[in-house]
Amino acid sequence: MNINFKELANKYQTPYYVYDFDHITNQYEELKGAFRARKSLIAYAVKANSNLSVIKHLAQLGAGADCVSIGEVKRALKVGIPPYKIIFSGVGKIDEEIKQALEFDILMINVESAAELNRVEAIAKELGKTARISIRVNPNIDPQTHPYISTGLHENKFGVDIDTAKRMYIQCKNSENLDPVGIHCHIGSQLTQLEPIKESVKIIADLVRNLKAIKIDLSFMDVGGGLGIVYKDETLIDTNEYAQSVLETMFGLDITVVCEPGRFMVGNAGTFVTKVLYEKVNGNKRFVIVDGAMNDLIRPSLYNAYHRIEVLNDNKEFCDCNLVGPVCESGDFFAKNIELPKTEHNDLVAIYSAGAYGFTMASNYNTRGKVAEIAIENGQDRLIRRRETFEDIIALEEEFIK
Ligand code: LLP
Repeated sequence: MNINFKELANKYQTPYYVYDFDHITNQYEELKGAFRARKSLIAYAVKANSNLSVIKHLAQLGAGADCVSIGEVKRALKVGIPPYKIIFSGVGKIDEEIKQALEFDILMINVESAAELNRVEAIAKELGKTARISIRVNPNIDPQTHPYISTGLHENKFGVDIDTAKRMYIQCKNSENLDPVGIHCHIGSQLTQLEPIKESVKIIADLVRNLKAIKIDLSFMDVGGGLGIVYKDETLIDTNEYAQSVLETMFGLDITVVCEPGRFMVGNAGTFVTKVLYEKVNGNKRFVIVDGAMNDLIRPSLYNAYHRIEVLNDNKEFCDCNLVGPVCESGDFFAKNIELPKTEHNDLVAIYSAGAYGFTMASNYNTRGKVAEIAIENGQDRLIRRRETFEDIIALEEEFIK
């Protein structure tokens, strides 16, 4: 990626997110290619970056969408992802979302509890429809990642255990309004170990075989997302090995493999660019204060996540500092105790690997407008979301002032 951050700052001001669409293409092609031995659907996890232009770019490459709210489903539909490539997951779907998902006739609703299955059945019955469903199995496997993004253990709220899943599939088989078409598991995010994925996929593949023996024939095996990316010096799971071990579990099964990568697709396509406002020293501690903040990119504050940071100046004199934003919280930092060069007012700072769970987790905290988003494709930049104005922020409150 060779992006002229300065030129973009002059054109669009700071802070901004910039995404390299060609990187997204490469990531998609790499994963799709790894699964070429079978029918596959790469259902992009929209939550990672739900900008319409990002989803559209993936739609044009042939991706489907893994959605966790009806809002995400609508985003996917809006940019041309066909309903038969859309999956709707989540532990707490409300009735209206289930109803709309059925009306949109998406590929499948990924059901996460026995109680939810009953709701889906009742709503499908009311609508005179048959709901295509998959069941999210919680394989009770430790994915060895950050506890906040670990989802495949029984102590996590996600999915159901195998026995419950079996009972739910039998309920589907006996219902006129439920059609069990898929099975799903997702054990966590930013995974760098293949073994836990192998184990959990094997568990669901065995379940698929058991179900087949009782005449429940599934068409889709969704192995979740979670493939990690390099933020610092992580050793990654090799994509071909990953696909190979997934496909190996599926011997003898006529089933389409589905996977739901989010971070893998967009994480390293994105950079958050902010500019230096001031430097100050409190006691012995040097602070570099920039115009971006935790409301724009919350991962360092929330998960203590590492993002590689570069000050775009020629100064060779580095010393320790905290890189912080203007928000009124001590948790508002991008990095603590980091060696950065001496900066001047308006120097740019690039915060890398920010394409996933960056903008989508942004807020208006401190009445800060969400930043601009820019795409680079074939060397051309274009705005894909304009910077929010004060008027945008107050628009939904203004008319209610008494
Ligand atoms: N499928 C399901 C059911 C998921 O829950 C997730 C992510 C994905 C797919 C996509 O996972 P990925 O391929 O992106 O790892 N905000 C956190 C990450 C939360 C992930 C939530 N679920 C972060 O900034 O690291």
